[in-house]
Amino acid sequence: MRVFNFSPGPAALPEPVLQRAAEEMLDWHGSGMGVMEMSHRGKEFIGIAEKAETDFRKLLDIPANYKVLFLQGGAIGENAAVPMNLLAGKSSADFVNTGEWSKKSIKEATKFCKANVAASSEDKHFTYIPARETWKLDSNAAYVHLCTNETIGGVEYSWTPGVGDIPLVADMSSHIRDDLLDRALPTTPSILNWKEQSASESMLNTPPTWAVYIAGLVFEWLLAQGGLPAIERVNIAKANLIYELLDRSSFYHNDVRREDRSRMNVPFKLKNDSLDEAFLRGAKEHGMVQLKGHRSVGGMRASIYNAMPIAGVQALVDYMRDFEQRHG
Ligand SMILES: Cc1ncc(COP(=O)(O)O)c(C=O)c1O
Repeated sequence: MRVFNFSPGPAALPEPVLQRAAEEMLDWHGSGMGVMEMSHRGKEFIGIAEKAETDFRKLLDIPANYKVLFLQGGAIGENAAVPMNLLAGKSSADFVNTGEWSKKSIKEATKFCKANVAASSEDKHFTYIPARETWKLDSNAAYVHLCTNETIGGVEYSWTPGVGDIPLVADMSSHIRDDLLDRALPTTPSILNWKEQSASESMLNTPPTWAVYIAGLVFEWLLAQGGLPAIERVNIAKANLIYELLDRSSFYHNDVRREDRSRMNVPFKLKNDSLDEAFLRGAKEHGMVQLKGHRSVGGMRASIYNAMPIAGVQALVDYMRDFEQRHG
């Protein structure tokens, strides 16, 4: 039986994507082999990678002067790659600190430069996004860095800050403006060097072929849903279902400022944390898993990315209401 999986990542995939990958596992499109067995330089995989990029560009409407790189090393790897590629002789960068992931970016950057914290919401346990007027930006900074969605704290920007001519770097995905490719420190490892990666179409070495293939299937699925505007409507409806329940309840609570609430990750706490284990056990019995909050903050967290169907969120809300009635 399939469960409703509320994990923050690795996270739920759309079921049609998993079915398609299963069908193609042994023999991709008559090639007689699975995607993980293909040469990354062969025509089959090159086709898969090109379609993934084309569909991604279409989904996000990415301008031609932005590169898309499919890289290994994840966001944590990019925390080092960003200063190495963008410092270009400057000695500092500006950071907006909105939680655990911003802190990780700041810590890594201090290995390469002075990391100036231009604004922070630490004073209120990272429950809000500091207003743009309060940011103390330095006109000599090499770039301004922020995290658009703090997946642990459940805090999300609903606006894009203007920072003038200074490059704005966001921990959100991997699209890169092409005029920024020429700035890397000479000591930057090739694998972290965006210009080298771009010149080799993200195939400087063996790329994460299976991840690119699955990402491509997800992009196709998203386009078939009607693209981002359609999936956004569903995501807003999903988030509203949970926040409405949280706002009405005195049994559960979420401390994030209303306008900065994440639509992707909804952390919440039970007033009485001695009920946490019973809550999680009961959820599992109802086919809902991975609801435990991040160890740094405790409580619960429902991650409800694109692949989580509204039926899953409805099941969670029904369960939460029922649990409150029995224990509240
Ligand atoms: C906002 C954010 N930044 C960075 C990371 C780290 O990503 P990775 O493990 O792929 O390096 C995560 C992982 O969950 C994240 O949610």
